Amino acid sequence: MINQYNDFAYVYDRLMEDVDYKGWVVYLKEIFKREGIEPKKILELACGTGNITLPLSEEKVEVMAVDISQEMLMVAKDKALTLGKDILFVEQDMTQLELEGKFDVSLCMCDGINYILEEEELVTLFKKLHQHLTEEGIFVFDISSYYKLSEILGENTYGENQGDLCYLWENYFDEETNILEMNLAFFLQEEQLYRKFEEYHQQRAYHITELKSLLLMGGFKSVSVYDGFKFDLPHQESERIFFVCRKD
Ligand SMILES: C[S@@+](CC[C@H](N)C(=O)[O-])C[C@H]1O[C@@H](n2cnc3c(N)ncnc32)[C@H](O)[C@@H]1O
Repeated sequence: MINQYNDFAYVYDRLMEDVDYKGWVVYLKEIFKREGIEPKKILELACGTGNITLPLSEEKVEVMAVDISQEMLMVAKDKALTLGKDILFVEQDMTQLELEGKFDVSLCMCDGINYILEEEELVTLFKKLHQHLTEEGIFVFDISSYYKLSEILGENTYGENQGDLCYLWENYFDEETNILEMNLAFFLQEEQLYRKFEEYHQQRAYHITELKSLLLMGGFKSVSVYDGFKFDLPHQESERIFFVCRKD
């Protein structure tokens, strides 16, 4: 298992401060409405620190949330405890998902699918999710687009200095494998000194057509794609693309 979302988990929310998670959840709820679904049971994969999980968990909505990172789950659990939300958090690799029960909606938000590097693993996951959906159920996920990983992030270095926390984020895109390698170095102030920690992430860039055919192989009958946070078709420079997949 490569070094991902370990110490990073404890600063993740700080670095995601400018992400509009409220708007994200509003958009998801609009998708549910358009699909005619009022979910009672939601499964969220790659839930991270629970930024989408927590607002989705309401009095009449039961949420189960899965992530591979123990540290991300610890942060999520703490937040759930503080908010008094009763959510079942499960530490699992979604490429080897073992679950019970059926869900009205399955979700995988903010690049979770990009972290799966092998097409076979994706088909296995899609088949399992298909089995775990109720008859009218939907699977919704988003990806960072091929354009974003190859043209925007690829071969670029980003950084930020927040005073007590600084990071460097170096990216390399391999056109042969379609994999973006990300080297992250963090410097976190601890009293008078900065502690450095590093992570190595890999994300795969997928074309919409590739994912659509893998979803059909997984059993999904219809797939709609949207330019992120809108209901328009994606275009050449869409950076985030949403997939809404119907079981039947
Ligand atoms: C960019 S974060 C997104 C977290 C959260 N969905 C959000 O919107 O903030 C990606 C998450 O995917 C998780 N992840 C990556 N590979 C995974 C796998 N094979 N199984 C489960 N979770 C995985 C990581 O641990 C991380 O929490």
